[in-house]
Amino acid sequence: FRTLDDLDARGKRVLLRADLNLPVKDGRITDMTRIERLVPTLRELLDKGARLVVCSHFDRPKGQRVPEMSLKPMQAALTQALGREVRFADDCIGPEAEAAVAALKDGEALLLENTRFHKGEEKNDPALAQGLAKLADAFVNDAFSAAHRAHASTEGVARLVPAYAGRLMQAELEALDKALGNPQRPVVAIVGGAKVSTKLDLLGNLTKKVDVLVIGGAMANTFLAAQGHGVGKSLQEAEMHDTASQIMADAKSNGCEILLPVDLVVAEAFAAHSPNEVVGLDAVPADRMALDVGPETVKAVVSRLASARTLVWNGPFGAFEIAPFDSATVAVAKEVARLTEAGSLTSVGGGGDTVSALRHAGVAERMSYVSTAGGAFLEWLEGKELPGVAALSR
Ligand code: 3PG
Repeated sequence: FRTLDDLDARGKRVLLRADLNLPVKDGRITDMTRIERLVPTLRELLDKGARLVVCSHFDRPKGQRVPEMSLKPMQAALTQALGREVRFADDCIGPEAEAAVAALKDGEALLLENTRFHKGEEKNDPALAQGLAKLADAFVNDAFSAAHRAHASTEGVARLVPAYAGRLMQAELEALDKALGNPQRPVVAIVGGAKVSTKLDLLGNLTKKVDVLVIGGAMANTFLAAQGHGVGKSLQEAEMHDTASQIMADAKSNGCEILLPVDLVVAEAFAAHSPNEVVGLDAVPADRMALDVGPETVKAVVSRLASARTLVWNGPFGAFEIAPFDSATVAVAKEVARLTEAGSLTSVGGGGDTVSALRHAGVAERMSYVSTAGGAFLEWLEGKELPGVAALSR
């Protein structure tokens, strides 16, 4: 695919697809990461003299104009992050947007209203894609985190205007390629999370690609139970035992080692400082639940990491939001950061909770790469082609 190196942006109207789907609470943005990671692309284009037109979705207004889902608050956030004024248009297509774009001078920026205020966005309606294309001489997609959606502003418009990957998109794709596409071996994957059922394709794909698959989180209980271990009242999916066994059998025939917990931290309830203890497998009392993996498991993971060259991490080991059930996640995260800094490990993390877990452990900045993507990172781990990325290489 083409990048900003291939785009002579001066004087051109550049439509930039960003992902400004930021977490907002009580009208305030609670995490600026996606904007911070976008700024280099915006700055580069403005410095090159582009007339920059930024578009994005925000939340899920389902084709309605929902005032609380306006992108207006992001205008101030972008202006502040860039240190230059970003204007705002009340619609992403039509006369108002067209007039606002026509008024832009070289090196000026405009933010368009939420693309999902139009039903055509999620339907990838060519009419909406055409409305957007009308505003642009070039299209730059910097929204890797929305690239799993085949929408008008991610996929449709890329068919109509010369399309390029922005710097953030480029960085995400390069990091992911280093992690799974073309990695240095051995590759370890850590997968946590609550349910096997939501990560079936992901686990299936990883058993084909990695050398060691470490399974943590509540989904590990399902695997342990499938092996016949008692898991007390731990969260698990009884209906997934056969599937879990099948995944273990597939891994074996692919030469992928699956590492399951060898000890567990169990407690009476999912509550902070609930009385807890470390127990071995088959020693989980019937009235206790596993909320983290134990120190022997951490040791086993650390020993695999010591000889690994690449790590892909998705999902925490335990209920890291409440102490002390963050212990294993924090201990492994610190070791990952240490090995990364020592130069022996390329470490890539992403997807939902993972970023908050890495932040909680204080190591997000010390990993080789942390993705801004949630769902897109997961679909990529599943080995799926992301429509927004595919559209760039067409
Ligand atoms: C995300 O936040 O993961 C992306 O912006 C995609 O949002 P969506 O799940 O509403 O499509």
